[in-house]
Amino acid sequence: MKPAHEKYIPFVPIRLPRRTWPDRELKAPPIWCSVDLRDGNQALIDPMNVEEKLELFHTLVDIGVKEIEVGFPSASETEYAFIRTLIEGGHIPDDVTIQVLVQAREHLIKKTFEAIDGAKHVIFHFYNSTSTLQRKVVFHTDVAGVKQIAVDAARLIRELSQPVLEAGVDLRYQYSPESFMGTEMDAAVEICQAVLEELGATPERRVILNLPTTVENCMPNYFADEIEYFIAKLPARESAIISLHPHNDRGEGVATAELGQLAGAERVEATLFGNGERTGNVDMVTLALNLYTQGVDPKLDFSQINHIRDVYERVTKMKIGERQPYVGELVFTAFSGSHQDAINKGTHYMQESGTEYWEVPYLPIDPADVGREYEPIIRINSQSGKGGAAFVMQHDFGFDLPKNMHPEFGHIVQAETDRVGKELPAQRIYELFQSEYIDAAAPYQLVRHSFAEFTDEEGHSHVTFAGTLRHKETVFQVNGSGNGPIDAFFNAIHGQKMDRFTFVDYKEHAIKRGSDSQAVAYIHLQDQAGQDWFGVGISHNINLAPLKGILSAINRAVTFS
Ligand code: KIV
Ligand code: ZN
Repeated sequence: MKPAHEKYIPFVPIRLPRRTWPDRELKAPPIWCSVDLRDGNQALIDPMNVEEKLELFHTLVDIGVKEIEVGFPSASETEYAFIRTLIEGGHIPDDVTIQVLVQAREHLIKKTFEAIDGAKHVIFHFYNSTSTLQRKVVFHTDVAGVKQIAVDAARLIRELSQPVLEAGVDLRYQYSPESFMGTEMDAAVEICQAVLEELGATPERRVILNLPTTVENCMPNYFADEIEYFIAKLPARESAIISLHPHNDRGEGVATAELGQLAGAERVEATLFGNGERTGNVDMVTLALNLYTQGVDPKLDFSQINHIRDVYERVTKMKIGERQPYVGELVFTAFSGSHQDAINKGTHYMQESGTEYWEVPYLPIDPADVGREYEPIIRINSQSGKGGAAFVMQHDFGFDLPKNMHPEFGHIVQAETDRVGKELPAQRIYELFQSEYIDAAAPYQLVRHSFAEFTDEEGHSHVTFAGTLRHKETVFQVNGSGNGPIDAFFNAIHGQKMDRFTFVDYKEHAIKRGSDSQAVAYIHLQDQAGQDWFGVGISHNINLAPLKGILSAINRAVTFS
């Protein structure tokens, strides 16, 4: 690469030593305006057709967006036709304002007025470029020149809107000094003030001043300084609603919008999932859910985010990345062992403590809040720890493995991930569990058995076990008694070359697979060398499950030791 300083002109920040925005907090959502159907649409390889735009429009309405820029009606017949369909088809709810964009040019302004005929609530949005660079290389004019373009357009718009306003239409004005971020701040103030005056803005009838980072060219803190400076210098500030329109060229659009609001902006233009020119517009979903996870109601409903993603991907033909905040396929998934462990502990803490707050490490938002509760949070690859496989067994299959069995099963799963070199689906983890433990039915097998049970005068239970076992081709009888079925069976097999094991622990619970309720028993034995052996037995009979579990542990031990 060429030395950077020889090629690129660095951004020159304004000096704002007494800035106040760093000490402010975001306590309320901005006025949201969606520009999906205009800025988003104009950035697509195949722009949306009327039906697709209509579907996205209704989706935005369902989310709760009240101001929607529906297009650039003077730009193409499709744009014009869509706006006519919206209005004539009665698609616009009474509490939703449509916004139309137009360049500050006479014939386009006239055409745009025709397009909005019949609409009840409209924001008439006009713009011209004001930046130093655009003045120099595109328009070959000075500040006075671009100011004149804006003021002339404002005059015409005010004039043409008189009959519309008299007809009772709620028509408001919006002006964008396009490429505001590259405009000298005093010039931006001068141009915007002139536009406010020409439009007759008052505190009762405020005009939206939309300040875009048409191309993001500086760090968000410098932009926030610009906004604070602009607002402080604007004489008619009380007659304006300050709006932001961040793009994302440096990948800082969200930060720009957030810091810009701290600096005093009250409105944000954004798109779903950040679609838009080049690297996109600022992402409305991220902005809104960032507020939500800080305890601020964003006044937008993303509780069905997967549905919104499906509509978005279908109509725009764009793909959402796996790591996209809040919506990406992998954003609620932990592969790393320590993350899995902490999520597991957090989930248990939530259940046991009854806390009303979301307190799960590594998950900044409850997946259920965006309708993603049924997705696997923990997925298993070679990075996963011992708890991950147990988590999958519990969440996907209802097996609550005892804690001291987690390391052994975790190693079995990890050996498999190392072998195959990729992620293991949950079903494969179940298969490993089954083949390792449940299917460990040889060389020892229980052929048949019976229990006899009585309780003595002191309330103690006495159980006698009589059964037939098979070891390879040999069939033999065993008998034993104890204080319960497990004790009786364990005593019965003692002395049958199976006596090198001591019984450490067991755990049993019900599992429901389909309509079938069964018992699963986890058995922990230890051999003479002090090695732990676990076994698992499943049966409809709660007395039989542990016996199968004991034989599973012994079979594994005699096979592997
Ligand atoms: O990015 C931009 O500057 C725009 C304007 C038309 C608002 O899209
Ligand atoms: Zn834009």
